[in-house]
Amino acid sequence: MMIDQNILKFEEKVIFSLRALYAKHGYRQFKMSKFEEYDLYSKNKDFLVSDGVITFNDTNGKLLALKPDVTLSIIKNSKYAYGAGMAEKFYYNENVYRISEQSHCYKEIMQTGLECIGNITDTDVREVCELAVKSLQTISENFVLSLSHVGLVDALLEEYGVNQTLKPKVMTAINEKNEGELKRLLSASAYEALRCLLTHYDTPMQSLKAVTAIANSTASKTAAAEFCAVCETLCAKGYAEYLAVDFSITDNDGYYSGIVFKGFINGVASRVLSGGRYDTLMQRMGRTAGALGFAVYLDTLERLGETKPQDSMINIALPKGRLGEKVYDMFEKAGFDCPAIKETNRKLIFENEEKGLRFFWVKPSDVASYVERGAADIGVAGKDILLEYAPDVYELLDLDIGKCRMAVAAKKEFVDDTSKTLRVATKFPNIAKRYYTENCRDIDIIKLNGSIEIAPILDLSDVIVDIVETGKTLLENNLEPFQTIVPISARLISNKACYGFKMQKIEAIKNGLLQEVKSDD
Ligand code: PRP
Repeated sequence: MMIDQNILKFEEKVIFSLRALYAKHGYRQFKMSKFEEYDLYSKNKDFLVSDGVITFNDTNGKLLALKPDVTLSIIKNSKYAYGAGMAEKFYYNENVYRISEQSHCYKEIMQTGLECIGNITDTDVREVCELAVKSLQTISENFVLSLSHVGLVDALLEEYGVNQTLKPKVMTAINEKNEGELKRLLSASAYEALRCLLTHYDTPMQSLKAVTAIANSTASKTAAAEFCAVCETLCAKGYAEYLAVDFSITDNDGYYSGIVFKGFINGVASRVLSGGRYDTLMQRMGRTAGALGFAVYLDTLERLGETKPQDSMINIALPKGRLGEKVYDMFEKAGFDCPAIKETNRKLIFENEEKGLRFFWVKPSDVASYVERGAADIGVAGKDILLEYAPDVYELLDLDIGKCRMAVAAKKEFVDDTSKTLRVATKFPNIAKRYYTENCRDIDIIKLNGSIEIAPILDLSDVIVDIVETGKTLLENNLEPFQTIVPISARLISNKACYGFKMQKIEAIKNGLLQEVKSDD
């Protein structure tokens, strides 16, 4: 029976092509039940894409889950997971049940991918990476595969004296491409060496050359050689134009050990493919063999093709208001101007076609959402918003304007009675919760949307956690700042997928703005 291809959705056609691709390379289909023991997921929660797992009791009382992931079940069932003989190769095409990154609700998501488990050879690693490239190519011609190597980054951090306490912060700075934060965290010499992990180079080979030059220990040299060999093989096969060496994709959950990669399709705001070598996960599950694989997130393709045609303009979200005007002035001085924006009307979108720039005004607290979801390639958001909502974006530059601080304030006579739960009124519940958790203080959060200062006056709360700029509002309401939680300023942020396709232009804007920051010093 012939299937009429026209009745299939785009992602269904992709599945058929990927299954044929994986089968052609000797991968066998792994079929699993809808249900799995919950225990498997509770032990490896950080490995899952989303926290949410739907659970229920089996007829014998055992706690089961609607499977949110396939990899863990494949490891559990693979007889090669203890390193017997060659690698076993599986592909899967299963529905998983988890919170969708798009809708933030539970969804049945079709996922496909492959796993290679056992004694992994260099040939296996190269084959899996090539299949990742070919999988993206099956979906669109306009794609990027970003590659990194966890073992290499780990070895370099150790070589340059980053201890285990500092490592999570340094990794976050690398993940965010946050050069300012990296500089703040490291000694001058370590920063000079390690900044190449964040630097944008035009070709993968330039990145590899820079990173190889700083690798002097046996561990980093070995990892660098392994990483270079994989990248060189892919380049030799003609994929150089589709590759990016990008250390920001390095995971810091501690499950991956070697090469890691993420695939992006132009027009999709998040990664569509993700994978790598996860020997550490195997060890944590008590297995002795090596493993690598990747998943293709078919749910991200739902709107591919129906969205705006691929757009070569740089879309910039500016925060409406006083800060936004200062930010625009910086863009203008750096040569990224858009004269139409100065017209007095109620328009919100302005273009400078010649320079390929499109600016739009949005509510300051919404900038991060526009950027995270790819409606804007870049934007300017306050560090308060970034800390509160933790959007998955790059934080490219501290613009050194909009400076203020997040602080705890209360009535002048306030004395903390630690025998009682502290009532905290704030617009920033996540920042407040984190701060008090770190200080082991039991609190009750009262989420407000504005005029926070009156909460202690009306005895709604004991303290407030809020922005303090000049301190005038506190003063006029007879309140006093007690502790500073964190300094705040405006940051240039970028969507991670858009960065991959427009990096030259985005880097040019970042560097132009950096000159403006320096000239104001
Ligand atoms: C912020 C903050 C304080 C005020 C502090 O409010 O919530 O109320 O600024 O500034 P100051 O230290 O210079 O007095 P914002 O202007 O953002 O208004 P909102 O609370 O209505 O959002």
